[in-house]
Amino acid sequence: MKDLSLIVKENEHLSGKTWLLRLEAPQIAQEVRGGHFLMLEVSKTYDPMGRRAFAVGDVRGEELLIFYDVVGRGTKLMTELKPGDRVSSFGPLGKRLFDYEGDKHLLIGGGVGLAGLSLFGKELRNMGKEVVFVYGARSAQYLSMLDWLREEGFKYILFTDDGSAGRKGFVTEVLKEFGSEWKVSACGPKPMLKALKNLSKETGHTLYMSLEERMACGWGVCLGCVVKDPEGYYRRVCYEGPVFKAQEVVF
Ligand SMILES: Cc1cc2nc3c(=O)[nH]c(=O)nc-3n(C[C@H](O)[C@H](O)[C@H](O)COP(=O)(O)OP(=O)(O)OC[C@H]3O[C@@H](n4cnc5c(N)ncnc54)[C@H](O)[C@@H]3O)c2cc1C
Ligand code: FES
Repeated sequence: MKDLSLIVKENEHLSGKTWLLRLEAPQIAQEVRGGHFLMLEVSKTYDPMGRRAFAVGDVRGEELLIFYDVVGRGTKLMTELKPGDRVSSFGPLGKRLFDYEGDKHLLIGGGVGLAGLSLFGKELRNMGKEVVFVYGARSAQYLSMLDWLREEGFKYILFTDDGSAGRKGFVTEVLKEFGSEWKVSACGPKPMLKALKNLSKETGHTLYMSLEERMACGWGVCLGCVVKDPEGYYRRVCYEGPVFKAQEVVF
């Protein structure tokens, strides 16, 4: 983990509430793996306080791609970043990452949660594995990483709640269409992860989930990000995760 001041190369609105921030990061670009995240400082003042966690969505040469949704004051401030600005960053963070075992991988992302899987998908493909992305959002305008999927040439299945793009319905439906030899990795809103966890018990899939609990420190100190395991012990998502096997956490 390094504490760095990274230079903004580009910060553009994609669609819906999602932006793409490109950061020049030669110091860490080669060590970042799928599932890693950064704690970025979103304000030079104490308002709002603290850093915000973001998955590294892709690595292109010496650049890191961060796909972010504007949800509150911190992410709103991020939209003001201009090329040449500097952003303080802790990372890469996350000790337990995804499982590369198996030849067939189904990667299920809800909304901007897809950014927690995208780099992992590239790594798997470089290893010669079969990869299918399943990408769901409220409506077509919120499928903001669709261009990324197309540019990268991945196979994908789309879902929207209102049927404005892809299939109408929820990403969870897809589990029954893929045999249990497909390893499933997921990232997205908790209700989606919960539904996948329940369904995977029926379908027999091995499911890994990258959790995005709210984080204050990002490196194991504040206990702000804990989840419970089945025995009732707390696990720090930032330090023991962010990736867990579905049955290792309770929610
Ligand atoms: C490991 C990890 C990776 C992440 N990767 C990404 C990513 O790649 N792209 C992305 O857009 N976001 C990602 N997030 C979520 C991101 O950290 C939050 O959206 C961000 O911190 C919000 O900051 P804010 O100041 O704009 O919002 P705040 O003002 O802090 O909060 C605004 C609203 O968003 C809710 N909120 C804030 N953080 C979270 C969260 N973690 N989960 C659910 N609701 C939350 C709050 O409850 C509140 O309702 C990730 C989070 C974690 C822990
Ligand atoms: S965010 Fe502080 S312990 Fe995880």
